[in-house]
Amino acid sequence: MDKVLLNVLLGGKSNYAPTWLMRQAGRYLPEYKKTRSKAGSFLDLCFTPKLATEVTLQPLRRFELDGAILFADILLIPKSLGQNLDFREGVGPLLTPLKNKEDLNQLKNINQIHNVLNPVYDAVSKIKAKLDKKITFIGFAGSPWTVSTYMIEGKGSKDHHITKSFMLEFPDIYDHLISIIEEATIEYLSNQIIAGVDVVKLFDSWAGSLPNSYIEKYSLIPMKKIAMELKNRFPKIPIIVFPRGVGPMYEKFSKVNVFDCIAIDSSINLKWAKEKIQKNTVVQGNLDPAFLVAGGKNLKIKTKEILRNFSSSGHIFNLGHGITPDAKIENVELLVKTIKEK
Ligand code: CP3
Repeated sequence: MDKVLLNVLLGGKSNYAPTWLMRQAGRYLPEYKKTRSKAGSFLDLCFTPKLATEVTLQPLRRFELDGAILFADILLIPKSLGQNLDFREGVGPLLTPLKNKEDLNQLKNINQIHNVLNPVYDAVSKIKAKLDKKITFIGFAGSPWTVSTYMIEGKGSKDHHITKSFMLEFPDIYDHLISIIEEATIEYLSNQIIAGVDVVKLFDSWAGSLPNSYIEKYSLIPMKKIAMELKNRFPKIPIIVFPRGVGPMYEKFSKVNVFDCIAIDSSINLKWAKEKIQKNTVVQGNLDPAFLVAGGKNLKIKTKEILRNFSSSGHIFNLGHGITPDAKIENVELLVKTIKEK
């Protein structure tokens, strides 16, 4: 097996922790900003296969990483279901919020989503053709809960109060929305797999906003449904889930046998993660992205502490959340060097 990261996800051994970084293609790279301005808008970048291929490959030219993540966004699913979506500089994503059953009924049929998403599958094939054999190719989608927060609030939110209120006040309509996103996500990820990704990841970035007793129902179960259907269709494709911010509930996710790897955020205690999560499954994480801004001694010490804790088997090195635009390139270089020299 040439692909070290994929091999570790499948339960194999490695003499170092295979590494990739959430949001590894992005605004901290000058070449990204250049391609991004050539594309015009962020959505044009996602939907132009040649340019999406270019930005996917950019971080791999600079850093010795083991994985490439498809350049796309979790909000392409709402867009493909017919919701208006716009990315504004300095504001973030803006959608027309879903307010009631009538708005839900306006959404497109699942079999129509590919009309919008076809350029993404095209990008997957193009990237696949250009990737080195040693690099694991990661596809992704958002989780139903996280995607629903953008669909209902119409923008990013700190506490997801409107979504939670909607979920509690109109449970039948909310559950219907979740099932639409589940179905769309299964079709979307199936097509990414057919086009060539080796692994898929579900980003549940806002799982930690749910009231604790609802995490199972709205974070774990919808992701499990998606994972079970993908395993039915593609038994050999590993699935990574990232229920960010769920604290001790991570243990429950690690016991779901259709999840091959659990991505943990930076708030999780390393020793606890080793004992409660790595015992059950592969762990991915969990350096705080702020270490890539500050760099220096702290970055080296923290990186070594994470590596020592997980002892490289059953561990994929990554951040606890996406890399930020103020991350410094020399610090990413230092990180990768520190991991490889261990
Ligand atoms: O990781 C990668 O390199 C692959 C590409 C990727 C992007 N978004 C590109 C992107 C991935 C995996 C995502 C996931 C994503 N998108 C998540 C889940 C992960 C997380 O970070 O929590 C979420 C919540 C989104 C939604 C989203 N997309 C927001 C809230 C924003 C605006 C915030 C910001 O950083 O500006 C985006 C835009 C976005 N998606 C950018 C990139 C590189 C920046 C846009 C730009 O270039 O102008």
